[in-house]
Amino acid sequence: MDRYGVFGNPIGHSKSPQIHALFAAQTGQVLSYEPLLAPLDDFPAFAQAFFRDGLGANVTVPFKEQAYRMTDQLTERARRAGAVNTLKKLDDGRLLGDNTDGAGLVSDLLNAGVTLAGQRILLLGAGGAVRGVLEPLLAQQPAALTIANRTTSKAEQLVREFAELGPLSAGDFADLTAPVDLIINGTSASLGGELPPLAVTLIEPGHTFCYDMMYAATPTAFCRWAAALGAITRDGLGMLVEQAAEAFELWRGIRPDTAPVLAELRRQLS
Ligand code: ATR
Repeated sequence: MDRYGVFGNPIGHSKSPQIHALFAAQTGQVLSYEPLLAPLDDFPAFAQAFFRDGLGANVTVPFKEQAYRMTDQLTERARRAGAVNTLKKLDDGRLLGDNTDGAGLVSDLLNAGVTLAGQRILLLGAGGAVRGVLEPLLAQQPAALTIANRTTSKAEQLVREFAELGPLSAGDFADLTAPVDLIINGTSASLGGELPPLAVTLIEPGHTFCYDMMYAATPTAFCRWAAALGAITRDGLGMLVEQAAEAFELWRGIRPDTAPVLAELRRQLS
């Protein structure tokens, strides 16, 4: 059977096997997709061994940068991201690295009815998650994309690297007070139930859309903060499903319908 999987450590919590099983059933594709617990100290050898018969794999924490370094060929968006979340064995045996995280975010925002072109967007954080989505977000041609991070120098570094792709700037939390159309939280603060120090005036009630790239069974700290101020909120479960759909299409040449899969995952989560 055509073999796929997801590399991570830990990997037990991953929803990817279930998502891809649902995609396969829906599209009538016959394949297996396994959780692959890769050793922390020897990811490349473990991945190479899988690809002796494996056709494709997703990559999650903490191996996305290592996967980037072991590919033979990169898509442009993976090269920009400096990280790979999707590997595909090409017909000649070489390994292609892609990064579908940013496309997943953009798709989920568009699914939610959010316009990106011409909008004022504030992006929180400057780690791997934010780096991975910058190119696809800028490709949507926002009016302005501002990166704010606890460590300002990291936001400034990203601006230097990506500024040629669009209207990108770095800002301090303390100085950011004017209302924006969209805030995307790409920090890991929600994991600890925390929130970056955001001015309440960033939110225009009933208008500003707030998206947390994290998700949980109950609303994240960021979504709760935003909803209390009258913003429209959404968590990152749909981004997870959309990045998986993008990978599935790269491997199988067929695009699954994500809406029923997201609904099923949401039902299970809550
Ligand atoms: P990831 O791969 O998820 O992006 P990361 O590269 O470790 O993980 O980046 C985590 C991001 O969340 C960083 O932007 C971090 O800010 P710093 O660069 O200043 O460390 C941000 N972050 C984590 N916890 C935070 C908190 N409690 N408040 C604000 N920002 C936080």
